[in-house]
Amino acid sequence: MRRSSRIRFRLGQPQDARAIGELARRVTRRWILPGQPATAAAPLLAGMRAWAIRRKMTDGQRFHLACLDDGRVIGVAAMRDDSHLFQFFVSTRWHGCGIARQLWQRTLRDAQRRAGTRHFTLNASAMAVPVYRRFGFVPSGPLKAKDTGLVVQPMQLDLP
Ligand SMILES: CC(C)(COP(=O)(O)OP(=O)(O)OC[C@H]1O[C@@H](n2cnc3c(N)ncnc32)[C@H](O)[C@@H]1OP(=O)(O)O)[C@@H](O)C(=O)NCCC(=O)NCCS
Repeated sequence: MRRSSRIRFRLGQPQDARAIGELARRVTRRWILPGQPATAAAPLLAGMRAWAIRRKMTDGQRFHLACLDDGRVIGVAAMRDDSHLFQFFVSTRWHGCGIARQLWQRTLRDAQRRAGTRHFTLNASAMAVPVYRRFGFVPSGPLKAKDTGLVVQPMQLDLP
C-alpha cells in the first residue's frame, strides 16, 4: 500500500509516552467511549496519561509503535506480561491500511521471542472484535462489565 510505505515500526520509549497518550485518548473518545456508561470514561482515560504509560514501560510493558517519517505516532500496540494485549489504537485517518495487522505481527513475534508465548488474551472494544477475529482470536466468555462499568469482550488466541 502506497501510504504505508512511509510508516516505520519501532519499540516505544518513555519519551514517546506523551504522544502515545494523546493518540490513545483521541481514538478512545471517538471509537470506544460512545455507547459506554459515563462512569467508564475517567478511569479508562487516566490509564492513558503520559505518566501512567511511562510507569507501565518502567514495569516492563512493551509499547510497539507505528510512526510516520516525521516522527508522528499513528499506531500503538501494548503488551503486558508478554501475553495480554491492551491499548491497541490506530489513528482514525489510517484505519483500514493494515497498520494494526503489522503492529500485531510485531507484538506477537516479540512476545514469542521473549517468552515463547502461545496463549494470548485481551479485552476487546465492540469495534475491534472483528479485527481480532481476523488475527485468530475467539471470545473466551460472555461480555464483561468491569468495575468502572466499561463493557468488554474477553478474547483469547491459542497458537498450535
Ligand atoms: C481496531 C483498530 C486498531 C484496527 O486498526 P486498523 O489499522 O484499521 O486495522 P487493519 O487495517 O490492520 O485491519 C486488520 C484486519 O482487520 C480487518 N478489519 C479492519 N476493520 C474491520 C472491520 N470493521 N470489520 C471487519 N474486519 C475489519 C482488516 O480487513 C484486516 O484483516 P486482514 O489483515 O486479514 O486483511 C482500529 O480500528 C482502532 O484504532 N479502533 C479504535 C480503537 C479500538 O477499538 N481499539 C481496540 C481496543 S480493544
